Amino acid sequence: MADSFFPPSCQPTQVSIIGAGKVGSALAQRIAESNIANVVLLDVVEGLPQGLALDLMEAGAVENHDRQVTGTNDYADTAGSDVVVITAGRPRTPGMDRHDLIGINTKIVADAATQAIAHSPNAALIVVTNPLDVMTYVAWQVTQLATYRILGMAGVLDSARFQAFIAMELQVSVSDVKATVLGSHGDLMVPLPRYSTVNGIPVSELMTEAALQGIVERTRQGGAEVVKLLKTGGAFYAPASSIRIMVESILLNRSRLLPVSAYLQGEYGLTDLFLGVPCWLGCRGVERILELALSEPEHKALMHSARSVQEGIKLAQKVLDQLDPST
Ligand code: LAC
Repeated sequence: MADSFFPPSCQPTQVSIIGAGKVGSALAQRIAESNIANVVLLDVVEGLPQGLALDLMEAGAVENHDRQVTGTNDYADTAGSDVVVITAGRPRTPGMDRHDLIGINTKIVADAATQAIAHSPNAALIVVTNPLDVMTYVAWQVTQLATYRILGMAGVLDSARFQAFIAMELQVSVSDVKATVLGSHGDLMVPLPRYSTVNGIPVSELMTEAALQGIVERTRQGGAEVVKLLKTGGAFYAPASSIRIMVESILLNRSRLLPVSAYLQGEYGLTDLFLGVPCWLGCRGVERILELALSEPEHKALMHSARSVQEGIKLAQKVLDQLDPST
């Protein structure tokens, strides 16, 4: 039909966001307002995604973008997405570890990933729900997507926090700070001061070792620090910004080198888990994984981090087995 025909160059790019909580709705805003794709926001709560979408469409009149934002409770409306982002799941409350969420969030993520990919089999899938590296594995298990099409968001967020804290300490523009965090998204993440600079100058030359170690520790606790202050729910502005640059690098084929949770098949001596490592993100998804030369203590810390993800995967696998004995 003429009405539904778009020549290939006019085909609107679409990102579907599963879960219209604070991260999902902030992400919808970031994507629409940066004019990179139409957004479908899905939630199980009736009226919530529809209300948020309408509000964002009305803001569009002022923000000057041409993107459509649609709210829905029906996965059929997400069909044909280029990227699907799963944010659905329970957040932490103060004092909770991300692994405490495995029981409940495995079921939520398994269901969301299965339904979303059934309608968008060619999408790249970004998982945000915690515990992030474990939930990315769960989504991969249930969808069986090619491993380069599935990834988790956390390294960009952890690195952003590391960068923000360095900038605060040195009173320099955060635009000049580059820093990298590897490993699992949790207390065992591995910030890499050795690879962190202010316009190329190693941060170790600009602050004392004690100040740097304080920042490393604050980065590891970055999510918990916000949870503690908010008391209900967790951070959402910085997570949404972090997902946005991943989505953008995929949709615009920018090949940005970003730390993301990717499936490892021998890299860093690890196999069969998703873990935060630097990757080139392009139109296929994870185009390539960078194997950094790590020092002995950095490598040890990464292995420690990986072990905690492997333990989480075992717990999640038990939940999946109960959902469907054939999985
Ligand atoms: C945080 C959540 C997204 O670190 O895990 O804020």
